[in-house]
Amino acid sequence: MRRKLAAGNWKMNGSRDGLKMLETLSVTHADSPCDIVICPPAHLLMASVKRTAEGPVTIGAQNCHEAEKGAHTGDISAPMIAETGATYVITGHSERREAYGETDATVCDKSTAAQEAGLVAIVCIGESLAQREAGQALPVIRAQLESSVPDGSSGGTVVVAYEPIWAIGTGKIPTLEQIAEVHSTLRSDLVARFGAAGKGIRLLYGGSVKPDNAAAIFAIPDVDGALVGGASLKAEDFSPIVDALSAS
Ligand code: PGA
Repeated sequence: MRRKLAAGNWKMNGSRDGLKMLETLSVTHADSPCDIVICPPAHLLMASVKRTAEGPVTIGAQNCHEAEKGAHTGDISAPMIAETGATYVITGHSERREAYGETDATVCDKSTAAQEAGLVAIVCIGESLAQREAGQALPVIRAQLESSVPDGSSGGTVVVAYEPIWAIGTGKIPTLEQIAEVHSTLRSDLVARFGAAGKGIRLLYGGSVKPDNAAAIFAIPDVDGALVGGASLKAEDFSPIVDALSAS
């Protein structure tokens, strides 16, 4: 059985003052049947781990370098993230693919580094609007899945997040049928490649998940949770999403 997962990506938002919301989430969802992961910016990782020591919330980073250490000014490695007590890291978010030229190969290397450091990699894939309109969504996403997820992955080391680029931060989401089509295709590909282990890899949907559309998205087969950006910044937005996932 795959445990459902509600993941929040704060992006470059949040300050020490905002960490109270982690305690609120921990109390509100103390008996949650779902995993809850919050990915704050790097400067808040240690403090966030401390604030969530009790309760169901775990902490993840938003990016890691593929090397263990070295001359990479401004970067953070997977073992460094693990040292903060965080247990997840997002790899290959479209904002990083676009702004930093991260390729599938880079994302795969980062995800491997994450796994070697004992972190679960949340590997993001997703098509652009032009690719969707050209009827290329499925081939693009399948190729990203194939090349971004490391060999030997399993449910304990990787989570895949399908995030159509045009749905991120826009308030637009694909139709429920489109999400269903992508997720069932991804599931088949994971099982074809990893066998039984592929059945254990969680598939998240991400892109404009909000309290008012969460339940419909979570009712789709093979949607095991969500990667949430904007609506993860406040407990009053994120909590109803966790509730909808728990009820699904
Ligand atoms: P959004 O972001 O929920 O604000 O659309 C999702 C993401 O980028 O992971």
